[in-house]
Amino acid sequence: MKYICLPLLFPIVLMLTFCGCDKPLASQKPASFVPETDPFFQNSKLTRSINLGNMLEAPAEGEWGLSLQAEYFSIIAKAGFTGIRLPVRWSAHADTVAPYALDPAFLARVDWAIDQAFQQNLAIVVNTHHYVEMMTAPTEHLPRLLGIWGQLASHFVDRSDNLILELFNEPNEAFSSDLWNNYLLQIIDTIRVFDSTRTLMVGTAPWGGIDGLENLELPEDSNLIVTVHYYNPFHFTHQGAEWSEGADAWLGTLWGTQAGDFSALQYDFQRIKSWSLDHNRAINIGEFGAYRRADMTSRVIWTRSVVTLSEDLGFSWSYWEFASGFGAYDLGNGEWNELLSALIQN
Ligand code: BGC
Repeated sequence: MKYICLPLLFPIVLMLTFCGCDKPLASQKPASFVPETDPFFQNSKLTRSINLGNMLEAPAEGEWGLSLQAEYFSIIAKAGFTGIRLPVRWSAHADTVAPYALDPAFLARVDWAIDQAFQQNLAIVVNTHHYVEMMTAPTEHLPRLLGIWGQLASHFVDRSDNLILELFNEPNEAFSSDLWNNYLLQIIDTIRVFDSTRTLMVGTAPWGGIDGLENLELPEDSNLIVTVHYYNPFHFTHQGAEWSEGADAWLGTLWGTQAGDFSALQYDFQRIKSWSLDHNRAINIGEFGAYRRADMTSRVIWTRSVVTLSEDLGFSWSYWEFASGFGAYDLGNGEWNELLSALIQN
């Protein structure tokens, strides 16, 4: 397929352009004409994804009320999602002294999760999440983070390219954007020793936000997807969030009732688009969501707006999250809530 002669290619392109055939939403190129590790093609596998949050990134699985179940993967696939983002707190499952050996039982648990995703034809992003010690003592913890990544890269090397590895969730505090630019190179170099073809996902500092794009310095490595998290306006999405100081005062904040709400969102997404065009990088919106204490109608309008803009601009997305405080699925009654129709429209 790689070498199709031009006279043949031309009618095919014309056909795809005019017959109204769907191309992968997050891909800017027809999938069949690009090598599989093209990051735009890889990103198209994550077109509509959801975070299986509050499970493997808790200090221990189950501590935050949820444990991974096989049925979650089929429920998600049946609903029309194409991918999963699996946040993982590896730092709670690795020795504290070199060579920082990972707990084999926990590694097997993540392998099981990857198998479940693949059985349901879902692509999966596995990251390092909540390595909280890195935020206060980044230099001290860097060797351990690299040790963990070396083990993960070699362990996952034979997995299909539907597994994407995300370097680090939301560097913040003392883990500054300058340090991040330096450390991300070291993480990528470490992974590439073991796995030269894996698609990697790289976020921004601070906090994975869009402002961090301006400071982000990436290596030549072309097999990268850039991910940003979107929770604007924060007083709307995090109203009543127990972990955000002063968040109770924001309760009752609506979204979508004023024209300025939409234009602010459009402005932010155009900024992401300009950056992606300037740097020729595929974009994933790796987290976005509004907390359960916000008005449901506003949550639906905001979520739908983020999804529509992402898809129009060619970004893949991953909703935060499946069945916890931002959840789109209600484990109590075994049904999706109103957010599903905001996320997936057939
Ligand atoms: C954190 C979650 C939090 C979410 C929204 C994520 O990156 O890991 O704990 O609920 O952001 O604030």
